[in-house]
Amino acid sequence: MKNGQIWQDTDGNDIQAHGGCIIKHGDTYYWYGEHKGGDNKIARFVTGQEVSRVDVIGVACYTSKDLLNWKYEGLVLESEKEDIASPIHTSQVLERPKVIYNEKNNNFVLWMHIDRPDYSYAGVGIAVSDSPLGPFKFLRAKVPNKQDSRDMTVFKDKDGTAYLFHSSNRNKTMNIARLTDDYTDVDGSFSSVLVDQEREAPALFYHEGMYYMVTSGCTSWDPNAALFAICPHVVGKWKLIDNPCEGKYARQTFFGQSSYIFEAEGKFYLMLDHWKPDNLKKSGYSILPIEITSDNCLIIPWQDEWLGI
Ligand code: GAL
Repeated sequence: MKNGQIWQDTDGNDIQAHGGCIIKHGDTYYWYGEHKGGDNKIARFVTGQEVSRVDVIGVACYTSKDLLNWKYEGLVLESEKEDIASPIHTSQVLERPKVIYNEKNNNFVLWMHIDRPDYSYAGVGIAVSDSPLGPFKFLRAKVPNKQDSRDMTVFKDKDGTAYLFHSSNRNKTMNIARLTDDYTDVDGSFSSVLVDQEREAPALFYHEGMYYMVTSGCTSWDPNAALFAICPHVVGKWKLIDNPCEGKYARQTFFGQSSYIFEAEGKFYLMLDHWKPDNLKKSGYSILPIEITSDNCLIIPWQDEWLGI
């Protein structure tokens, strides 16, 4: 699969799983992402700036054993077509879906960015399913801890506690909000990190005593330089270090933007979206291996092809 391009599933159709995540359950990898298979439209941010969008179709799921051949499993959460008051009505925004497994309840919890077309709501949506293949039941949309929330991810710590990482304070600051035991809500405890650093698109992992967070700058669909931050605790004094990308177009994150970091067979991989603002459904993907140095630096060189594991 050529990195930076749109990929095809095992039926030969374009993979529609943007802003997504890959999790492993049993011996299967599940890739969830936003189905952007509709026509491009123009919306306007609260600031007046024009932005391209597609109507919400839903969250798509693909499965694979080798991270290379992806079988389409359908929409695990579908947009609402009739009720215009629904937070997941087609006219709204549903981005960056992330799924975590809850051991206590043996179910799967899906978090996503929920917004109005002008991005003035700035909240999250939560849905649950007993099966990784859905269907997910949409529980609610909310503004977590009354803090605006745009780009986001969820991260499960090694002790089973899960956190919502979300760009807040109009994308100036990253908030870390602890989730309840069942992962379906925030529990009220949160802290603000990377204050005034204007980072978004958070992607996280933990390795040998250190937490790592890769983020992008805030330039809508346009690429910018990624940065990684480190912290010895999941909630603590996160410190921005450097751009992990190396080589040609490193300053543009190879024309991509972080969506998720997953682990496969002891190695960590960064997923990128390569947005095509003029035709969002053709936005591409990359999966790039992450090197971790002994002094806690990340190095991510470009690779032309993703060959799976
Ligand atoms: C980006 C963000 C995307 C999407 C886009 C809309 O900054 O990372 O997830 O929200 O803006 O313009």
